[in-house]
Amino acid sequence: MAKPKVVLTRRWPKPCEDKASELFDATLNRDDSPMSADALKDALRSVDALFPTVTDKITAEVMGVDGRRAKLIGNFGVGFNNIDVEAAKKHGLVVTNTPEVLTDCTADIAMTLLLMAARRAGEGERHVRGKHWTGWRPTHMLGTKVTGKTLGVLGFGRIGRAVAHRAHHGFGMKIIFHDPFPPQDADIEAVGGEKRDSTEAVLREADFITLHCPALPETRHLIDAKTLGQMKKSAILINTARGDVVDEAALVAALKSGTIAAAGLDVFEREPSVTEALLALDNVVLLPHLGSATTETRVAMGMKVIENAEAFFAGKAPPNRVA
Ligand code: 8YV
Repeated sequence: MAKPKVVLTRRWPKPCEDKASELFDATLNRDDSPMSADALKDALRSVDALFPTVTDKITAEVMGVDGRRAKLIGNFGVGFNNIDVEAAKKHGLVVTNTPEVLTDCTADIAMTLLLMAARRAGEGERHVRGKHWTGWRPTHMLGTKVTGKTLGVLGFGRIGRAVAHRAHHGFGMKIIFHDPFPPQDADIEAVGGEKRDSTEAVLREADFITLHCPALPETRHLIDAKTLGQMKKSAILINTARGDVVDEAALVAALKSGTIAAAGLDVFEREPSVTEALLALDNVVLLPHLGSATTETRVAMGMKVIENAEAFFAGKAPPNRVA
C-alpha cells in the first residue's frame, strides 16, 4: 500500500523529519519559508494530511478548496486558533494538536518573563552591553521582589497550573486564579490555588498576572484599557498565551502612563510584527514566541503530530483530536 502523502509546512527538528519521512511520503519545507494561502490550498489538493504551525492560517477558504484530497490537519502546537475549527468540522476534516509535551517549557518561559520583568533583567542586560554600567550602588536599577507575592492566573488549565506550581512551590507565591471551567479540587490544591469568581477579582488582588486562556472570540482583548485599569499600579502582566488576548495599543498606553508597572510578552497581536511603541519601552520584556522552543519539547511536539497521523491513517482514533 502506498504511504500517505503529507506536507510539513515548516522545518521540523531532524528526528521528526526523519520519522515523518520513514512513515509517510513527506514533503519537507527545506527553506523554512511560510507557505502562502495558495500554497496551502495546493497542498490540501495534493496530499492526505497537512501539518501546519501557528504561522499557517488554515481558513474556511483554504479548506474549501475545490478537489481537496487532505482529510487530516495535524497542528504542530497545542493552541489551534490558526485553524478555523468550525469550518474544518463542516468540511469533515479531522484536526489534532500537541497538548502536554509543551506544558513545562511554556511554564518555564512564563516564569522567565515574570522574573525578568520584576528584576529588570532585559534592561540590565542592555545596560551592560551598552557599556553604561558605572558600578554598584544601593539605588541602582531596583526591581520588585517576587518571593511571597500574589500571582493571579487567568486560565487554570495544564499550563496555568504548571506556572502556579513553580511560583507556589519555588517562590512561595500566593496563587489566585479564575477559570470559567475550573479543574478538579485536587489539581487546584496541588499548586496551592485559590479560586476567585471573576477575572476582575483576580486583577484587583494580584501583584503579577499571567495569562493562560485559549484565543477565542470571548477572550479577545480580555486585557484592554478597562481591565488594565483594574490592576494594581505596581502589577506586572505576563502573556505566553496568544497575542490577541491583550489589546497591544492599550497595553502600550498603560505601560507609558504607569497604569501598570511592567509586562513580559512572548506572544503578540500581529506576529511577527510587534507594536513599534513597545520596542521603545524599558518596562516590557519581549521574546519571539519561545514558549515551547527547546529541543526536547519541539521533538516531542513533532512526534505527537506523527503519532496522531499514524493513528488516523491506521483507522484508529487520534489521541489528540480537537475536531
Ligand atoms: C508552538 C504554541 O510552538 O503550541 C502552541 O500553542 O504557542 C507554541 O509553543 C507554536 O504554536 C507552533 O505552532
